[in-house]
Amino acid sequence: MTRRIVISGTDTGVGKTVFAAALAGALDAVYWKPVQAGLEEVDSDTVQRLSGLSREQIWPEAYRLKTPASPHLAARLDGVVIDHASLVFPETPRAVIAEAAGGLLVPLTSDTTYIEIMARWRAPVVVCARTTLGTINHSLLSIEALRSRDIPILGIAFIGDENPESERIICEMGRVRRLGRLPHLTPLTADTLRAAFAENFKTHDFLGEPCA
Ligand SMILES: Nc1ncnc2c1ncn2[C@@H]1O[C@H](COP(=O)(O)OP(=O)(O)O)[C@@H](O)[C@H]1O
Ligand SMILES: [Mg+2]
Repeated sequence: MTRRIVISGTDTGVGKTVFAAALAGALDAVYWKPVQAGLEEVDSDTVQRLSGLSREQIWPEAYRLKTPASPHLAARLDGVVIDHASLVFPETPRAVIAEAAGGLLVPLTSDTTYIEIMARWRAPVVVCARTTLGTINHSLLSIEALRSRDIPILGIAFIGDENPESERIICEMGRVRRLGRLPHLTPLTADTLRAAFAENFKTHDFLGEPCA
């Protein structure tokens, strides 16, 4: 079966899209944003700009919602009900990198959170986490939520400035693999991102068995 990976994280704005662009580029994969809320610069366009993937490697979103808000609200404002049964992974021979919205317990409808879709997918999850203060609690809560639903975890990808003790304690107490850390890049371009990913991550970690 082709490799499917879900990119989630501790929160919105942690760097999931940037990380997903780097990973999709490194694996020459297909990128898929199942539910896009907010149409300013959509994540699919950011990924195309930062990954160098061809247009065919950016799978169309299942839902494009106008408002940059929680998907359940953005959908309601658009007069749409997200049918979670319709959120199925693209069929393609390439690896697929799917980027979730916000954090794990973000609601898609009034009675369904994103993590329930992940539990159905059973694809291994990468948890993207900040390195700044507050990340330990958010990271360990996220790991616990995934574990309690038997969702496989590929590991944690840290994003931001080095913070060795936070990274160590999260991986030790959470019993998860540290996949690497993407530093804050200035400028952030397709070239700097490709080089930073190659320097800080091992592609085979994403193709192997989940750590938990
Ligand atoms: N490694 C990085 N270097 C520089 N800027 C980054 C990096 N990661 C994320 N950003 C910036 O931080 C903001 C949020 O990142 P994004 O990937 O959109 O987060 P998310 O997908 O988790 O909401 C964006 O403006 C993005 O360009
Ligand atoms: Mg994003």
